[in-house]
Amino acid sequence: MEFAMRIPLILTSVLTASLALAACGDNAAPAADATPKAPPPPALTEAEKVAVLATLPAPYNAGDLENGRRAFARCRSCHTITPGGPNMAGPNLYGVFGRQAGALDKYSYSHALRSAGFTWDADKLDHWLENPKTFLPGNKMTFAGLRDATDRRDVIAFLKVETGYASETTKAAATATAPAS
Ligand code: HEC
Repeated sequence: MEFAMRIPLILTSVLTASLALAACGDNAAPAADATPKAPPPPALTEAEKVAVLATLPAPYNAGDLENGRRAFARCRSCHTITPGGPNMAGPNLYGVFGRQAGALDKYSYSHALRSAGFTWDADKLDHWLENPKTFLPGNKMTFAGLRDATDRRDVIAFLKVETGYASETTKAAATATAPAS
């Protein structure tokens, strides 16, 4: 009688033990398969993004980064924006702010852009993106332009934050303005 009552108990503990083992096995499997990945490129913190955005003049400093990201989808088929990203149909745009127009050595620009003789800033980008053809006749960016001023403002804000390098000054500003938490 006493023994008979024990059987379910023993069974339960055996079952529990094997369930625990099975659970362990499940957890261990993906870890064993995982291959080490290269660390992602350093992303700006939210505070650093705010600080970088604030370095732009109005109205770009009020740009909506999410809408800018969406609008930039129209540029992605021709442009990369990561540091050292490849040139595609168009040149890599990392660090374009403050860069001389048509200045990348490894990209074959049109004569019009290479000899344009100005430095990219938010206003220049605004005019360029509104209508590349009339802004700089003879250039080879076959893009009709972003006619919506808000989209241009936002794409410029997005570009500044994504391709702008966070200088020590902006980093310091970000630390100073970051909420103390
Ligand atoms: C169909 C391909 C294509 C699309 C789409 C396109 N571009 Fe371009 N872009 C080019 C080409 C080609 C050039 C080089 C033009 C030249 O040399 O005359 C260029 C040049 C530029 C430059 C000048 C870079 C420098 O180094 O001087 C900027 C800035 C730029 N594009 C921004 C954009 C943005 C922002 C968008 C989206 C709103 C966009 N482009 C969409 C092809 C494209």
